[in-house]
Amino acid sequence: MSSTLSLKQLIKELEILESDAAKEIAASKDSESIEKLRLGFLGKKGKLSILLGEMKNLSSDERPLIGQRANILKTQLQDLIKEKLEFLKTQALNQILIKETIDVTAPPTGAPQGHRHPLITTTEQILDLFLGLGYQVSEGPEIENDYYNFEALNIPPDHPARDMQDTFYLGGEYLLRTHTSPVQIRCLEKKKPPVRIVSPGRVYRRDAVDATHSPVFHQVEVLAIDEGLDFSHLRGTVLAFLKAFFGDLPIRFRASYFPFTEPSAEVDVQWRGKWLEVMGCGMVDPAVLEELELDPERWSGFAAGLGVERFCMVRHGVDDIRKLYTSDLRFLEQF
Ligand code: DAH
Repeated sequence: MSSTLSLKQLIKELEILESDAAKEIAASKDSESIEKLRLGFLGKKGKLSILLGEMKNLSSDERPLIGQRANILKTQLQDLIKEKLEFLKTQALNQILIKETIDVTAPPTGAPQGHRHPLITTTEQILDLFLGLGYQVSEGPEIENDYYNFEALNIPPDHPARDMQDTFYLGGEYLLRTHTSPVQIRCLEKKKPPVRIVSPGRVYRRDAVDATHSPVFHQVEVLAIDEGLDFSHLRGTVLAFLKAFFGDLPIRFRASYFPFTEPSAEVDVQWRGKWLEVMGCGMVDPAVLEELELDPERWSGFAAGLGVERFCMVRHGVDDIRKLYTSDLRFLEQF
């Protein structure tokens, strides 16, 4: 810019600056470009300052005229900037409001939902069937002592049946229960017959892991004690339960031995062309009743124990028990 601007020219330049600035502010789209404009027009090295630098050539009468105009222009531009910033702010807020509006009438988007583990649902299905027959749920501790886990169940020290269940001993008399049968004893200690209970829970054995064995697994224990119960009640209950759970798979009772039942049986279900053992059961041994000070002449009953994993695997066609413990979503999402 030449340094010989006349008053007229300066006024003209101020008018040009004013209309340029107004246009550019109007056209700006965000606060950063407005800040740039502000510095460019009104900053210390901005266009207005440079124009005002031209005042030195004016007479002392003329200078205040330009000074006044420049001040008015400055306030005008500041107001424009302020307005524009406020406009942008409201606009941004409106956009957010539009974008974040929730249409409460929109159909659900099907957000992913979790579900319970197949072992849990299997346990609940088993319990449900017995609850329907009038049984009650009763639970016992996983840390047991020798008395409840073995002795009260007619398994004295050195009894060969202890070899069937390799035990995790915890020191002293304590151990991790190898089956849910101790709940039979704990329940009958607290409650006089008639008793009908189901007891779900974790059990522990020193088994090596393979496709059908795990050192921790789940059982459900069944116990019914009353007057006049005999093997037909056991058989009827077990058949009703297994039919309700598995549908029409063939079922057979096979004579067996358990120290706490006499007679004892194992129950097999035919699955994929083979007989598969699914539970043990029997009439509660009089020795167990006597230990609990229940007269075997008056009271009798039956007990059964089953492995939840096996029920779950047969029901869902799972071929490897380890899949039930690895929390692999690709597996679990199928249920
Ligand atoms: N407690 C046995 C086990 O874990 C299973 C069992 C068999 C439970 C016969 C019973 C029963 O109540 O009557 O191998």
